[in-house]
Amino acid sequence: MQHVWSSRYTFILAAVGSAVGLGNIWKFPYITGEYGGGVFIFAYIICICLIGIPIMLAELALGRRGRQSPVNTMQQLAQEAGAHPAWGIIGWSGMVAGCLILSYYSVVAGEVMAYSFRAGSGVFNQQSVDGVKGIFSALASDPEKLLAWHTLFMALTILSVAKGVKGGLEKTVVFLMPALFIILIFLVINAMGSGGFEKALHFMFTPDTDKFFYARNELGQYLMDADANKIFTWKPMMVAMGHAFFTLSLGMGAIMMYGSYLNRYVSIGKMTLVIVSLDTLVALLAGLAIFPLVFANGLNPAAGPGLIFETLPLAFGNMQGGVFIGTLFFVLLFFAALSSAISLIEPTVAWLIESRNFRRIEATVWTGTIVWFIGLATIFSMTGTTLRDILQNIFSFIGLGDIELKHSFVKYNLFQIIDFFTASILLPVGGLLIAVFAGWIMQQDSTENEFSFRKPYLYTLWRVMVRYVSPILVAIVFLNIVGLVRF
Ligand code: PHE
Repeated sequence: MQHVWSSRYTFILAAVGSAVGLGNIWKFPYITGEYGGGVFIFAYIICICLIGIPIMLAELALGRRGRQSPVNTMQQLAQEAGAHPAWGIIGWSGMVAGCLILSYYSVVAGEVMAYSFRAGSGVFNQQSVDGVKGIFSALASDPEKLLAWHTLFMALTILSVAKGVKGGLEKTVVFLMPALFIILIFLVINAMGSGGFEKALHFMFTPDTDKFFYARNELGQYLMDADANKIFTWKPMMVAMGHAFFTLSLGMGAIMMYGSYLNRYVSIGKMTLVIVSLDTLVALLAGLAIFPLVFANGLNPAAGPGLIFETLPLAFGNMQGGVFIGTLFFVLLFFAALSSAISLIEPTVAWLIESRNFRRIEATVWTGTIVWFIGLATIFSMTGTTLRDILQNIFSFIGLGDIELKHSFVKYNLFQIIDFFTASILLPVGGLLIAVFAGWIMQQDSTENEFSFRKPYLYTLWRVMVRYVSPILVAIVFLNIVGLVRF
């Protein structure tokens, strides 16, 4: 499948379509809320600059040079550089990460679809805070409904991918991305009048190191060690770094895949700057649209994955034309999610076609069905089932009913576990390997050639980043988590 994007503009739209999605509008605000605001955003932006940009350049260059699905691209480039074909592992872990991420992404996208109808029906009109919360919990605690929407979203993803990424994508993104952007700006302006804007600015842009560096329980109370000192934690740092990968679609081959459809004359450097700036801007706008509502209504910024569903409807319910704007917003968010979903599944589909002789339609249906099935885990999580519940059930089934599960891990649900394992572990590890490969394994000529930067120092800068800065930063965060380095 040797097609290339029909123009530079469509490539940007497709890549921005992959990057901008639920990560920016649903996930970024709620994790910022959970991990204390300012310091979290600061850490995230540092990661975008020092890790995200260099690795995006690397992925695009690798993809364009390899011109295949990530597994085969990596194997071919490894061969070209005289390295072991085991580098294909980057592609493998990317396929696993993509399918696992899509499994919960689709459930949330399903909620977004449900909300377009809720908004259109006018139920948000003049709702109170409790009313809006009730509407969300009614949806989140109804497994059949979640399943129906999840199924519909996966079916639409399968349909779009089966048509071929180029055909499916170009038309959708051309109008919808700019429209989403405009509506977000409108929501920010609206939020300025909510009475919570100053507090939101303060929350998002001034550092509260305590909330970032010290572990707290679900009630927000600090956890203490035996000597009554607050317990220091690297988890927020890990989440911020993981989110830099997640939001830019890096570390799993999605951007590499899109790079493989890129023609030779496009400047990878410029493309990267555009994608990264737009993606970051959309996330910040989403924060500025949501946090003023949180503070104006006395809500909890750390409310978790339901945050946008419990705040934005308040705004829609109280503005002129809110039914129209609300519906439009959720419909556009749905398309943003769809264009990301396509890029999550495409590396696997492309590999099945290239290496296993599948037809595109078969490859898509198979992969989509497996992802759909894994998505059930997230549906059970939404309704409150934790790992402890599941394990205890299994234990009692095999007759070990009264084993007590003490490890703190079991208090998480499967969605939280899949999310952490993919966004905070698989993507950064994938990204680390990509940086090492591009910086240390590939010949300098090959990468220099792909970028053809006009200013030589830009190439040197990139090379220093992928050889040293990005891998070392990722490694430090990891080593701290496993307790090898402490400072
Ligand atoms: N970047 C997408 C978002 O922010 C999610 C995504 C992650 C897409 C990884 C592709 C690969 O919503």
